[in-house]
Amino acid sequence: MGYKGKACDKPAPDFSSKLKALDAQAELIVAKYDQKSAATLTLLHLAQDACGYVTPEIEQWVARWADVTPVHVHGVVTFYSMYHQAPVGRHHIRFCTTTSCVLNGSEDLLGHVKKKLGIQNGGVTPDGKYSLEESECLCACDQAPVMQVGDDYHSQLTAKKIDRILDGLK
Ligand code: FES
Repeated sequence: MGYKGKACDKPAPDFSSKLKALDAQAELIVAKYDQKSAATLTLLHLAQDACGYVTPEIEQWVARWADVTPVHVHGVVTFYSMYHQAPVGRHHIRFCTTTSCVLNGSEDLLGHVKKKLGIQNGGVTPDGKYSLEESECLCACDQAPVMQVGDDYHSQLTAKKIDRILDGLK
């Protein structure tokens, strides 16, 4: 499941100029594959990195380059948790709430994160610095409890360790 974030009634921003600026890179990416559709994930990463999250406009842009339907792209976006469908903080935290982590204290630690940041699952701090997503297994069960912040994994968490990690982020 992709990250939905907080329900938002604002219209999606216009990313057309950002996407236009990515056209040259998209052309290079697509050229590397025998089948354009194989570039779908890479194109989504490119657009998400530039725009922050994936909107229907971005799905259509990817669909054009990858020569697939927007519905296909949307299916990819909703399948993979690495794609965001709502704005996230500069530091997006995915906190594992699956069995090995729960057995090693993740529920209390997740409560600690929520209290520390003042947000719930799907929330973004008012300054836009952090966002929080409760996640299925992050595939590091032998290192439980685990959270991911951006691209970085943090394991064998304690409240102290979490404080150190989050307080150390710019
Ligand atoms: S159960 Fe948490 S990483 Fe697998």
